[in-house]
Amino acid sequence: MISSLIFCFIVGAVLAAEEDSRSAYTKTQENKRLHGYVVKKIDSTDEMSCSQACLRHSWCTSSNFKESSGNCELNKHEFSTTDDNTKLTDNPGTTFSKFLKGCLMAGCLNGGSCLFDEGKDAFACSCSPQWRGEKCEMDFTATFTCDDKMEMFADGQSLGTDSNWTNPTTYLVPGNTRVLSVAGESIGGPLGILGSTSNGQVTNETWKCSSVLSSGWNSPDFDDQSWPLAKVLAKHGEGSWKTLKGIAMTAKWIWGDTNSNTAYCRLSIK
Ligand SMILES: *[C@@H]1O[C@H](CO)[C@@H](O)[C@H](O)[C@H]1NC(C)=O
Ligand SMILES: *[C@@H]1O[C@H](CO)[C@@H](O)[C@H](O)[C@H]1NC(C)=O
Repeated sequence: MISSLIFCFIVGAVLAAEEDSRSAYTKTQENKRLHGYVVKKIDSTDEMSCSQACLRHSWCTSSNFKESSGNCELNKHEFSTTDDNTKLTDNPGTTFSKFLKGCLMAGCLNGGSCLFDEGKDAFACSCSPQWRGEKCEMDFTATFTCDDKMEMFADGQSLGTDSNWTNPTTYLVPGNTRVLSVAGESIGGPLGILGSTSNGQVTNETWKCSSVLSSGWNSPDFDDQSWPLAKVLAKHGEGSWKTLKGIAMTAKWIWGDTNSNTAYCRLSIK
């Protein structure tokens, strides 16, 4: 339903822009033909129906249409293939049309918007925070460790536990997570929590840590205003700890009250 609406919208826009050599959806060059990438040949009465045929096939990225013969060729190639025009040959009477479809047909996931990207000269997904990937389909990962034991949470949901600080664990975090939190426990000796995420978060003094277990402490709705900021004990690589694989070097070992063997630390992600 949505894709057919979008389809009508594009066809409408292509129609409206027929006069222009360049619309937001196609880039047209007269008397040029791209060869070597033709996947399908059909007969078309006019350029419009040739364009529609290309729009109907998700793989079709451009078309060659020869008015005199009604010959419509549908091409498949990378966007960059036609960037420098070297693969276009002179061909009187043929119109080459490149479609800037991108995400217009496929859409974007998780609240991402399909916007025209001038740099890429195509439509591309602009993802909501925390989502990545061409279609905003990817979540992010968090790699954490605790001297000595920890449990990792995303919006209050447990992602897993770890009790070997020399061997950080990587957790898959749902893309729309608002609060990351770690419950840490020391069984004596050095204590601390260290971690980073694939989208640039690191443990540091912007986290909040409490030594007291409060009900709902790891949920997004919990009010942590009265909680103290995390205490930084060392930078990653310093102290008795070595450099730990998978954790950003900008991360810092944090804890709450160092007289307590427990720390409940959280970070709101905007
Ligand atoms: C902790 O992880 C390291 C690998 O980093 C491994 O050599 C060691 O045996 C592990 N210790 C325990 C108690 O599992
Ligand atoms: C703390 O880490 C965040 C990323 O999680 C970073 O944006 C911020 O600049 C850091 N603050 C300090 C004081 O290092």
